[in-house]
Amino acid sequence: MSVGVPNRLYAAITGIGGYIPANTRSNSDLEKICDTSDEWIVKRTGIKERRILEEDLATSDMAVRAIEDLAAKYNKNLHDIDALLVATSTPDMPMPATANIIADKLGLDNVWAFDMNAACSGFLYALDLGASLIETRRYKNVLVVGADNISTYVDIHDRSTNILFGDGAGVVWLEPSTEGGIMDAYLRSNGSGRSFLNIEGGGSLYPMDAEDAMADKRFLKQDGKTVFKHAVQSMSDACFQVMDRNGLTINDINWLVPHQANQRIIDAVGRALDIPEGRALSNIEYLGNTIAATIPLCIWQNLKQIKTGDLVMLTAFGAGFSWGASLFKWMI
Ligand code: COA
Repeated sequence: MSVGVPNRLYAAITGIGGYIPANTRSNSDLEKICDTSDEWIVKRTGIKERRILEEDLATSDMAVRAIEDLAAKYNKNLHDIDALLVATSTPDMPMPATANIIADKLGLDNVWAFDMNAACSGFLYALDLGASLIETRRYKNVLVVGADNISTYVDIHDRSTNILFGDGAGVVWLEPSTEGGIMDAYLRSNGSGRSFLNIEGGGSLYPMDAEDAMADKRFLKQDGKTVFKHAVQSMSDACFQVMDRNGLTINDINWLVPHQANQRIIDAVGRALDIPEGRALSNIEYLGNTIAATIPLCIWQNLKQIKTGDLVMLTAFGAGFSWGASLFKWMI
């Protein structure tokens, strides 16, 4: 099997970085706050602990550290960046874009930088947009960040959400390649799912004030069971779409990197795709769901396994609902 089109220009990932905060929130910490147990959480989610960003820091701080990690490991000059795309649902502030704040903190004063919000699918959306920029041949070095400080939107006393979410940031560097890179992406959304997973407060519909804060609108809310079912169905469908239109079967895929929402969702998607054991990567146990950061962080923490030329399929599902899958050849 060979994947790739002669003479096509691809966007290849040529560097990856990550940052996870030092502070941990373990299941036993949660046992002290609400009526839950380590046993229940591990059995129902596969999560043992999450990382929580310090209160005086924000999403941009994690992204900056992830980018610095990438630059140091892959010997990249940040002044080469043409475009900086930041997938986040938890910007530092409504304006300006967190991408602008990150660029400023990195000393970049003329980079095209903006945010996009597709919740937990954000990294996949931004990756495809970043790849498209490279394919226009007008951009040569594009950074795609997935970063979220979701702990600030989680009600620490709500056991239906506090068990799942944590903070983190991941980033990839894209460059042109004629050999291979991002091969395909299938991305979709359906806004009628918004009532099942959202943060209502703080936008133009419900501007934040003391009354709204009392009404809990500032916290993430979800209908866990509905989200679970849609996540499994949508991620599996998206993967089949990508494999079908590229003439691939699951045996051609070296690694599946699913959004890390719940280990049972990851396992159910793996079963639906009939992926051989060990090929669906997971790092949820010690990080939980870091929203737009899960996929780059999962690759970053599993780098030793991924070899040059491997085919990697990503899949995500999140608020919107938004979902998708993408396929790339690992070129590092
Ligand atoms: N600790 C202990 N017990 C809990 C609990 C907790 N944190 N949360 C729920 N329970 C109890 C419930 O009250 C219920 O008790 P009952 O049987 O006596 O009524 C029982 O456990 C089962 O609850 P249920 O809500 O059916 O659990 P679940 O298996 O659906 O798991 C989630 C709940 C939230 C972990 C799961 O639905 C999920 O992960 N959904 C997807 C959420 C998600 O991924 N969101 C982000 C998408 S990007």
